[in-house]
Amino acid sequence: MSFRTIEWRDNKVIMIDQTRLPAEEVYNEYTDFQGVAQAIRGMVVRGAPAIGIAAAMGVALGAREIIADSFDTFYRQLENVCDVIGRTRPTAVNLFWGLERMKRVALQHKELDLNSIRELLKAEAISIESEDLAICREIGRHGAALVKEGASILTHCNAGGLATAGYGTALGVIRGAHEAGKGIRVFADETRPWLQGARLTAWELMKDSIPVTLISDNMAGWLMKTGQIDFCVVGADRIAANGDTANKIGTYSVAVLAKENRIPFYVAAPISTLDLKLANGDLIPIEERASEEVTQIKGNQIAPEGVKVRNPAFDVTPARYITGIITEKGVVRGDYERELKALVGQ
Ligand code: MRU
Repeated sequence: MSFRTIEWRDNKVIMIDQTRLPAEEVYNEYTDFQGVAQAIRGMVVRGAPAIGIAAAMGVALGAREIIADSFDTFYRQLENVCDVIGRTRPTAVNLFWGLERMKRVALQHKELDLNSIRELLKAEAISIESEDLAICREIGRHGAALVKEGASILTHCNAGGLATAGYGTALGVIRGAHEAGKGIRVFADETRPWLQGARLTAWELMKDSIPVTLISDNMAGWLMKTGQIDFCVVGADRIAANGDTANKIGTYSVAVLAKENRIPFYVAAPISTLDLKLANGDLIPIEERASEEVTQIKGNQIAPEGVKVRNPAFDVTPARYITGIITEKGVVRGDYERELKALVGQ
């Protein structure tokens, strides 16, 4: 891939600014955790795994800023850093998974001097990023096996290299099938209101010369009905114990339409997106974002001034609509409750 989503370089966090794609390919540098928190909230970085990586790197930056003379004082301030980052976006569980993983590293090494702990936190954040890339490739490998020769694949939002350390989850499956020479082509839902599909998925697939056709969200049903879609694959922000899956708003509609038209509908996600503490999808917190995302496009007002707006950023697809969940450890289907637990060894 010819871009880097996020990386740690010279004690700075570098991110491609996804608010400016596809018009401009700009890389922002962050030297403090507040900047990283702001980047997550403002969607400079987005997509569940990438948010988890950014959170971890934010903690590593925060740890460098803490002035303390004991582990307890250091750890209290580290928790404060985690709280600030944790308040940015509520739905993607990878954010909280990343923060917990960083806190655990600090606690496990409390006997070390603070500088060594800071170094370990930095190393942990960097390894979360490199692990994610390997995980996406495994997801791609497992998922590609499900894709038939010449398939037309529909995806919603951006679960690609831009949403992960690289390669992607849903787009990992697509990349895997493409690299296997299956001659696939992709239909990308534009994904209103933030246009992740139009701006990001179309951009990164075109960069990799993977055939992509952009459609507006309301066209997916008709394409399915007229036999133009063979396979659907999306990412996930949080998967509950029973397999109910939160993902970008509009995913539920795609899943229902796929079932109606007997088209397989797969979710591709790393195990870090599982939240087995939650019994079902009703318990997943859904982020509500600013009304301007709906009433404006690139600052241009497209609705009457003052109109009432709803802007839930995610929806939950009930497990019964999901053909299978593609993870780095393989594909889970059927009794999600049992299979997901078995997958993580619970
Ligand atoms: O609001 P976003 O752009 O962060 O939402 C992203 C999604 O819904 C993705 O599909 C999901 O995070 C999976 S990314 C591999």
